[in-house]
Amino acid sequence: MPAEEDFARERYLSTLAEPYRVKVVEKLRLPTRGERERALAAAHFSPVFLDSADIFIDLVSDSGTAAMSDEQWSALMRADEAYIRPRSFFRLEAAVREILGFAQLIPTHQGRAAEQIMMEVLVRPGDVVLGNTHSDTTRAHIKHRGGIPLDLVNEALFEPKSEHPFLGNFDLDKLRAALERHRGKVSLLICTIVNNIAASAPVSLANMRAASALAAEHGVRVVFDACRFAENAHLIQTREPGQSDKSVRAIALEMFALGSACWMSAKKDALVNTGGFIAVRDEALAQRCQELAVLYEGFFTYGGLAGRDLEAMAVGLYEGTEDEYLSHRTRLVAHLGERLSAAGMAVVKPVGGSGVYVDPRSVYPQLGPAEFPSIAFFADLYREGGIRIAGIPAYLQNVDRASGEAVERRIELVRFAVPRRAYGKAHLDYVGDIAERVARDGAKNRGYRMVAGAGQAGFFAKYAPVGQ
Ligand code: F0G
Repeated sequence: MPAEEDFARERYLSTLAEPYRVKVVEKLRLPTRGERERALAAAHFSPVFLDSADIFIDLVSDSGTAAMSDEQWSALMRADEAYIRPRSFFRLEAAVREILGFAQLIPTHQGRAAEQIMMEVLVRPGDVVLGNTHSDTTRAHIKHRGGIPLDLVNEALFEPKSEHPFLGNFDLDKLRAALERHRGKVSLLICTIVNNIAASAPVSLANMRAASALAAEHGVRVVFDACRFAENAHLIQTREPGQSDKSVRAIALEMFALGSACWMSAKKDALVNTGGFIAVRDEALAQRCQELAVLYEGFFTYGGLAGRDLEAMAVGLYEGTEDEYLSHRTRLVAHLGERLSAAGMAVVKPVGGSGVYVDPRSVYPQLGPAEFPSIAFFADLYREGGIRIAGIPAYLQNVDRASGEAVERRIELVRFAVPRRAYGKAHLDYVGDIAERVARDGAKNRGYRMVAGAGQAGFFAKYAPVGQ
């Protein structure tokens, strides 16, 4: 390659120049400090009561917040809105077959709708369901069926400075112990890629292979929660020995070959604002899912979506698995991680897929769990900069390596989730600057108390600053 081109490539990578340009813009407004103070108090110091209109940079979720491309918007126009067997269904089916390798597709309106159907089909009351770490809606659906969700968490998750490249991995000793301890009662092994509770960290191909081999020895079905599979495949490509020569799509096919089915919230890596699906290999399982889809979602060739949503997902699956896009995306998220780390925050490293995860105790060492350090962090970032983030508290059923029994374990991290293709480097540098200011004053914070809404999974909790 000529020297000039090498220089261009180096500049392109190091400046984080976007591999796209802007065609449509959405206005953002930074509310004044007074407005922010009032909005925060009116929202009871909770991210869930704060209006989007009052936010400058919204990092509360990477779900459904992506910017669609010109190709996706064009695809909306060619959508077929027939009730039964629209062309748009077959275009999505073709994309799923090519990229994920599963023959049978059942669209759903979003990820948790797919979980509801999958759990109803695959989990009976009393069944044990194993996972690298179950996401909150997955866990809730397993319990709703009377199943018992257990987490085979990588122990490095509890060692903040571990810097494990595949923090999302299954702990294989826990998997062995749980399969022995619950022999005959385990109905499923769920592999969540990336593992969003474990700081959106990836699972290695080697670990997936070993886990699926152990599951096979016990006759246990392996399925994937695939909402961020492309980011996982890209992180395998960049981190796992021997994988750098493969394309993201080749790695994705290798991953999915290790399971018999998956479901996907397309609101993440398929770059759409709504949608999801179940994809399976065998026709008998597909038919059982289709029967329930008709009950809950709509006829099984549209699954609660418009034909245009199916089109946008099909295009998004191709765009979301392009190496160039994923390389920019993961470097941009990692850049935010470096900025927050430089501000003195305990960032879970290496930074993974959906965003940057921070231990709030590194900003507020004086606050115990009863003083809600995640709420303090959210409130400070909003007050200082109009930024919204949220805490991700998780109650895990952490399996003991020796006995296979589970013990509840709580982890609390805050997530700076980065919407896909929506914000650029300057926005994230702004977040870094505000974070520095917040970190400087963190030790003075007296924390928050809950004033209403306890016992409702935290969704409706209202807070007030301690002392007010
Ligand atoms: N699985 C994982 C791993 C998820 O992160 C989510 C959603 C779902 C399933 C459910 O999908 O929202 O389409 O029904 N996560 C969002 C988030 C809400 O902000 O992480 P859904």
